[in-house]
Amino acid sequence: MKLIIAYVRPERLTAVKQALYARQIYSMSVTNILGAGRQKGYTETYRGIVSEVNLLKKIRIEIGVKDELESAALEAVAEGARTGREGDGVVFVMDVAKAVRIRTGTAVN
Ligand SMILES: Nc1ncnc2c1ncn2[C@@H]1O[C@H](COP(=O)(O)OP(=O)(O)OP(=O)(O)O)[C@@H](O)[C@H]1O
Ligand SMILES: [Mg+2]
Repeated sequence: MKLIIAYVRPERLTAVKQALYARQIYSMSVTNILGAGRQKGYTETYRGIVSEVNLLKKIRIEIGVKDELESAALEAVAEGARTGREGDGVVFVMDVAKAVRIRTGTAVN
């Protein structure tokens, strides 16, 4: 199993979901995050308080898929999230050592 973690623009979430659904991939977790890429996030200190001024709102999508669906999931992320402009995001793919469905105790795959 692979865990795919994609950081994408918030306004592209719907398109990424649709592209995943079109490939029969429905299980995912989504969170709102702040992030910086190569254009560099930075912090500023104002009256002793450090605040993050250049971290941009992004969405983190985690998708656990069977190995054979890895490329379909990556395709879906690209199809849904790519605008061609800086800030489209990045995607990481990880090998999952174990994944267990809590209700049944059986493997998630
Ligand atoms: N190396 C990284 N580690 C963790 N998160 C990252 C990394 N690179 C990018 N991200 C996440 O992805 C978001 C979007 O990154 P972004 O698309 O700007 O990457 P980039 O490498 O700067 O590419 P581009 O040049 O197209 O902007 C970031 O705000 C951050 O949340
Ligand atoms: Mg960038």
